[in-house]
Amino acid sequence: MAAAVLIQNLCKSYGTVPAVKDVSFQVNQGEIFGLLGPNGAGKTTTIRCLCTLAKPDSGTIELGGVSVVDQPREARKRLGYVAQEVALDKILTGRELLELQAALYHIPKVEARQRIEVLLEVLDLQSYADKKTGTYSGGLKRRIDLAAGLLHQPEVLVLDEPTVGLDIESRVVVWDFLRQLRSSGTTIVITSHYLEEIDALADRVGIIDRGLVIAEGTPSALKNRLGGDRITLRIREFTPVAEAERARHLLSQLSCVQEAKVNDNQANALNLVVTPDRDVLMTIQQSLQTAELPIFGISQSRPSLDDVYLAATGKTLLDAELSAASSRDLKAEKKQSMR
Ligand SMILES: Nc1ncnc2c1ncn2[C@@H]1O[C@H](COP(=O)(O)OP(=O)(O)OP(=O)(O)O)[C@@H](O)[C@H]1O
Ligand SMILES: [Mg+2]
Repeated sequence: MAAAVLIQNLCKSYGTVPAVKDVSFQVNQGEIFGLLGPNGAGKTTTIRCLCTLAKPDSGTIELGGVSVVDQPREARKRLGYVAQEVALDKILTGRELLELQAALYHIPKVEARQRIEVLLEVLDLQSYADKKTGTYSGGLKRRIDLAAGLLHQPEVLVLDEPTVGLDIESRVVVWDFLRQLRSSGTTIVITSHYLEEIDALADRVGIIDRGLVIAEGTPSALKNRLGGDRITLRIREFTPVAEAERARHLLSQLSCVQEAKVNDNQANALNLVVTPDRDVLMTIQQSLQTAELPIFGISQSRPSLDDVYLAATGKTLLDAELSAASSRDLKAEKKQSMR
């Protein structure tokens, strides 16, 4: 059986900006595939090519064996797309907006009315359906946008950052709804820069950075590949660098410690990768105590998707977001000063 979505060696530049350099991934039918990456990584560009809204420079994109580039009309029938920016006609009510959308898809009126009622109910929108969308909160706008993308019952639903800016309550409504859709057989591609969103929802994830897929697999396989647990510990405050280095050296001698690093920003904090054994914390504690380096705080965690990103790129997703934000600010400043 052909993959629900197949993207191979996708490249797309905007002028001299290579937005997507070489992206390949496959999504199986009935799966939630998460595309995770920092700002500017190429998520929206990939999604826009998949949804026939941008023309790839090269590479292939297929939906159930149908080429998106050669048969865009056929592809669009199979696709539902919820864009990153919500653009609703403010003077229409939620219900009117969905009726208009149904008419655009030539869905017979009776059928459309039934589908609209179901969507309003599952997305918890009934009490807002007859209010103008201009009065909606961000979360309500997102949900009505989601309903609009689903009216024609697409085989593949593509969502670009569907919960950005939503409060946790609205986010949970959307997550639950996406899980329900998956269990009814819909294939879902979702982009996000929220680690916890992809971790909670996706069956498989592709991590994208600067236009390239740098890791792909199930969230647990990607994390397991990194090996041990993470431990962050703090020795006494204002620890001199030499003493922190002594602690690091001491701990790196232990057989249960795979990696030990003094935190770049805090000399009294050490980041360790350890074997996932029960006695690890005790061993570390005893070793530091014997060397008269008391522990003031310690936390242990399993590797996260951010650790996967860190291992592949040498920076955390948050760092990547911050550097994208500061380069945007710089560009904005330059523009301003040129005026
Ligand atoms: N229409 C465009 N014209 C010129 N450059 C563009 C255009 N759209 C995107 N880009 C550039 O392409 C790169 C990838 O952008 P894209 O929007 O695909 O990233 P993203 O991963 O969706 O980011 P975000 O998380 O901010 O939504 C960025 O450098 C961006 O500035
Ligand atoms: Mg985007």
